[in-house]
Amino acid sequence: MLDILHTVVNIGIEKPIKILHITDVHLTFSTEHDPEFQQELMSWRTKTFHKEGGCPDYTPEEYFREAIRYAEEIGATLIATGDIIDIYTEGNLLKVNEIIKGHDMMFSPGGHEHQKVCVRTMEEEYPYFKIMREKIKDNFRRFDIDFESRIIGGVNVITANNGLDYYNAYTVNRFEEELERGYPVVVFSHDPVDDPLLGLTEPYHPNVKLSTEDYLTSNRMLQKLLHDRRVKATFAGHWHRTEESVIHGKTHYVTDGLFKGKCRLIEIR
Ligand SMILES: [Fe+2]
Ligand SMILES: [Fe+2]
Repeated sequence: MLDILHTVVNIGIEKPIKILHITDVHLTFSTEHDPEFQQELMSWRTKTFHKEGGCPDYTPEEYFREAIRYAEEIGATLIATGDIIDIYTEGNLLKVNEIIKGHDMMFSPGGHEHQKVCVRTMEEEYPYFKIMREKIKDNFRRFDIDFESRIIGGVNVITANNGLDYYNAYTVNRFEEELERGYPVVVFSHDPVDDPLLGLTEPYHPNVKLSTEDYLTSNRMLQKLLHDRRVKATFAGHWHRTEESVIHGKTHYVTDGLFKGKCRLIEIR
């Protein structure tokens, strides 16, 4: 059974809308085509998440399927904010594509969609970022992984990629265009807006090279999320815990991991 947290965001729209926010599923599948170290890693990580999740009754895959079913049943838009897969394996990509096939979902990637291993010192040996980004785009082809926007019941519901701890120029430009349309906006990303690493990409991801301009652009978006009155709330994952922070009078929500069965049903009124 899903453990659903209910959240109401009051912005004064005529007919309320529903969003089911899921994040951090951390699927841990592999096939015999995946390198042996990944197969071993995935069986070890399965146990880790089971323990970290407080030994829940169901698997992350079962919770994922249940969340999709539940969102459809109640007519909620399903939004997943990354770390759906624990690492990039053939097993995980086959599984995730099988699970979401034929179902509607909005998606923004997390750091783990970019990883072949979950030990950063090993990753640093790979010029992995460029390759991974192309692979992610290829395998999540139905999504624009950087930015999507849907007007639902008069609310501009946005997914914006910050999975590698920054917003890229394309994401920021699209966001600013959407903001100008004048609808109230809610934004879903992997990293919370008050994550201490947001804007510190390079020390944490040594293969991602950003210019001063890139950091300024990313920060411009962050400032708008925090200060612009058209942005009504933000929702994120990544921390594997539930939080609400009020910053400059606006609430920013962090949703716990679906690998524990946790998710958030948002009603915007
Ligand atoms: Fe995560
Ligand atoms: Fe994360």
